[in-house]
Amino acid sequence: MQSFTFHCPTEVVFGRGAENAVAEKLRAFGASRVLILYGGGSAERSGLLSRIEKNLTSAGLAFLVMGGVRPNPRVSFVREAIREGIAADVNFVLAVGGGSVIDSAKAVAHGIANPTVDIWDIWTRKAELTKTMPFGSVLTIPAAGSETSDSAVLTNEDTGRKIGLNTQLNRPVIAFMNPELAFTLPREQIAAGAADIMMHTMERYFTSVKETNLFTDRIAEQLLLTVMESVKRLLVSRKDYDAMSELMWAGSVSHSGLTELGRRKDFSVHKLGHEFSARYDATHAMTLTALWGSWARHVYHDDAARFAHFAAAIFGVDAGTDEERARAGIRKMEEFFTEIGMPTSLAGLGVGVLTKGAIEEIASAATANDTIRLGDFRPLTRADAIAIYEAAN
Ligand code: NZQ
Ligand code: ZN
Repeated sequence: MQSFTFHCPTEVVFGRGAENAVAEKLRAFGASRVLILYGGGSAERSGLLSRIEKNLTSAGLAFLVMGGVRPNPRVSFVREAIREGIAADVNFVLAVGGGSVIDSAKAVAHGIANPTVDIWDIWTRKAELTKTMPFGSVLTIPAAGSETSDSAVLTNEDTGRKIGLNTQLNRPVIAFMNPELAFTLPREQIAAGAADIMMHTMERYFTSVKETNLFTDRIAEQLLLTVMESVKRLLVSRKDYDAMSELMWAGSVSHSGLTELGRRKDFSVHKLGHEFSARYDATHAMTLTALWGSWARHVYHDDAARFAHFAAAIFGVDAGTDEERARAGIRKMEEFFTEIGMPTSLAGLGVGVLTKGAIEEIASAATANDTIRLGDFRPLTRADAIAIYEAAN
């Protein structure tokens, strides 16, 4: 096991009615003027937003509400929210929604705390982030894990880049998680969320680390099995509280860092996927399932035993050589993605067949013209990225 430091400070309020504690809990974090962010309207339609507003009003907390965050959240919205937040002198940012709203809230909190810096300069590492202000979320979709993660991903529509920023300052102070709030999700979003949750653990499972990590591996494997079982139940019955609870909690644990302790992380499929989302506005998790099989087949020779172990732990594949079991595990994972309605090729994203030129351009962007390597299991070059995109095309 490799040495590690783990600090996940987010307070989690989990269960039915969790959002009713918003005012009381936010006050404990020093909030008196709250900036509430939400997405395209689902939180309005469900009545959640007005319940939260009433809750804050009855506790005497002032608030400002801004809707309109889109999936693959844009830096332009963030800049506008920073201006509004500074003008209203808010001291807490509350996201009501999923990863896109929470990531926007993280960026807005950073921007308000650093008013002289353009937020995109922080994302592109031109400016260093050294302070932020308190922020949290009322989660409405189990998926990105942003409610506890140290990461936030923004898209700059002017430059066509989608970039993640990892820092401890991205850890929210609190997350309210009521599984019932996710009952209004369409089936495609439930499946996409489950796939993203799985990928957050799988991108930490396949690394170059050779030391044994039994406990971390077993958490990872049980998390994957739990998510696979729960999503299948939810696709039959979207209001299965127990299954939604499992999915929601697994989503937070999967991206909290717990499933990488003593190991490392890879996240190359995420990086290849972000380049795709930036250009085609594709749903995050769909880019991941579209690319994962091609990535896995491209790299598994480097450590077939690891993939064979995965196949045995997740699918009970125990016959054949390491190579055979590795391939069987990859195939079965793709079959599972297909079973829950997720694409296993880029064609499934509805953007048509990519030209050679388009693939080369995306691979160049992903690897900064072949000057950086992606991931850890096999650090990917531009040529690797091209081969993976081509195989998934
Ligand atoms: O905008 P509204 O109307 O709310 O609709 C949303 C949106 O269309 C809908 N939705 C959410 N809760 C709902 C609901 N519809 C009905 N009922 C509900 N209860 O779901 C759609 C997707 O929302 P979004 O927030 O985009 O989903 P998700 O949580 O999957 O977040 C995806 C974003 O997070 C980033 C992704 O790249 C993507 O931009 N990620 C963030 C990470 C992080 N910060 O740690 C890690 C991830 O790897 C990921 O990259
Ligand atoms: Zn993800």
